[in-house]
Amino acid sequence: MKKEVENIHPIFHQLLQRTDRVTLLQQNSFVLWMTGLSGSGKSTIAKGLEKKLYAEGYLSYILDGDNIRFGINKDLGFSVEDRKENIRRIAEISKLFVDAGIITINSFVSPTLEIRQQAKDIIGEKDFIEVYINAPFEVCAQRDVKGLYKKALAGEIKNFTGLDAPFEAPVHPAIEIKTDNLSVEESVDKIFNLIIQRINL
Ligand code: ADX
Repeated sequence: MKKEVENIHPIFHQLLQRTDRVTLLQQNSFVLWMTGLSGSGKSTIAKGLEKKLYAEGYLSYILDGDNIRFGINKDLGFSVEDRKENIRRIAEISKLFVDAGIITINSFVSPTLEIRQQAKDIIGEKDFIEVYINAPFEVCAQRDVKGLYKKALAGEIKNFTGLDAPFEAPVHPAIEIKTDNLSVEESVDKIFNLIIQRINL
């Protein structure tokens, strides 16, 4: 019996835990889940926050449409089912990042209560911080950074969130950021102040 145990490859006696990585990185990990309309400012704030965290010596990583929908989820569109699968995969990926010890900043429309509940269930409640990036539809349409609102309003894009597909606002977000009233810097600072105590060991 003893012999058998000894024959197990040494790597299996050395598996490191999340707590080991947290200690190495000197930071607690979790998912900051940013939800809001397209053009509400999620990705801009995510980038600002990543920079601020980096400057303060913390490791974070952004998951957003750019690195997810053009890669692992490029087979998915914007039907109810596809959005659900999009968010399910993102939640599973986020869970691994959190286990790796990284502060994970997610920037996805994630439009329904059900979809975000699914993400929360996968990631685990204690590692899930919901951030509502709130700007009125009209403001997002006015900004129209990607030119999608123009197309959607002209009927060229179907199932567009806020137009002919729903957006359900979070009921109890950890924080709400109204980007029509706040600058990017103010928004970043507000979120940073919310999470900094949680990050520190
Ligand atoms: S989610 O609904 O599945 O969470 P996700 O955040 O990945 O959406 O992608 C949203 C981004 O895709 C938007 O910011 C926008 O640039 C683009 N997009 C393309 N078509 C749509 C659509 N029908 N509804 C919303 N966003 C769309």
